[in-house]
Amino acid sequence: MSYETITVEKNAAGNAGVTLMTLNRPKALNALNTQVLAELIEAFADYQADDTQLCAVLTGSGDKAFAAGADIKEMHDKAAADFYLDDFFSPWTSEIVKKTRKPWIAAVNGFALGGGCELAMMADFIIASENAKFGQPEIKLGVAPGMGGSQRLTRAIGKSKSMEMCLTGRMMGAEEAERANLVAKVVPHDDLLAETLKTAATIASMPPMAVIANKEMVNSAFEMTLDQGLIVERRIFQILTASEDKAEGMAAFIEKREGQWKGR
Ligand code: HXC
Repeated sequence: MSYETITVEKNAAGNAGVTLMTLNRPKALNALNTQVLAELIEAFADYQADDTQLCAVLTGSGDKAFAAGADIKEMHDKAAADFYLDDFFSPWTSEIVKKTRKPWIAAVNGFALGGGCELAMMADFIIASENAKFGQPEIKLGVAPGMGGSQRLTRAIGKSKSMEMCLTGRMMGAEEAERANLVAKVVPHDDLLAETLKTAATIASMPPMAVIANKEMVNSAFEMTLDQGLIVERRIFQILTASEDKAEGMAAFIEKREGQWKGR
């Protein structure tokens, strides 16, 4: 498949099972326009459908930005009716978040603002470079987060900090983001891609059903009550015990060797 606003590399840098997607509009600080969204939807669907790939990484091209937000120049000419009737921004969740059952990591290499911060927060987790800057500056444009920022940021860092970020539009650096639990870890800028691909390769080396199951379980914690979530966890665990990879994984442990996964 060929894309204009993103690049996609499977088995990236020799890492088996790892797909690297890169937002590729560096002159516009990787601003997210309609074409980027359409291409990302296709790339994520292809990643999900490809049984040889088990973990994806999304990053931004250039040294400055992951994504500086939804494309303000594109939004400027749209009327409220256009946003409402097209249910603008809805496919991010319906097509990318909900349909991607395999994990993906956001490697945030610079500005992750507005829709860029929201896109990073759609990932299963974030690894940030020391230069990363997160923010929801939409208030300065007379609007507000529209791709999940008010919800996901609040769940990630709590009400007080999220409210302050949304109301002032200020940016949060990588160190603060790690303290606030917005990111899983911070790494030196030059090591970001290599470190994230390494983490993705570790995930891609795991038994595939267990990878998908672990993602589903953790996400359940955000969707249901504790009692419901505990039932989901128990049932998925019980299903996994019937898999060939469970038999192999436990045998491999006892025989002191690496497991050979079948994905079943
Ligand atoms: C379109 C953008 C852009 C954006 C940057 N650019 N952000 N174009 N949409 N979100 C473009 C600039 O216009 C400029 O193009 C080029 O990228 C470089 O940006 P500069 O501003 O010159 O760079 P710099 O001075 O380093 O400042 C970096 C920055 C600033 C602090 C990140 O660009 C900035 O504040 N950007 C907007 C951030 C923002 O408000 N994001 C939220 C968007 S709303 P030219 O052609 O001039 O060189 C959003 C909505 C979600 O995401 C849902 C709400 C409805």
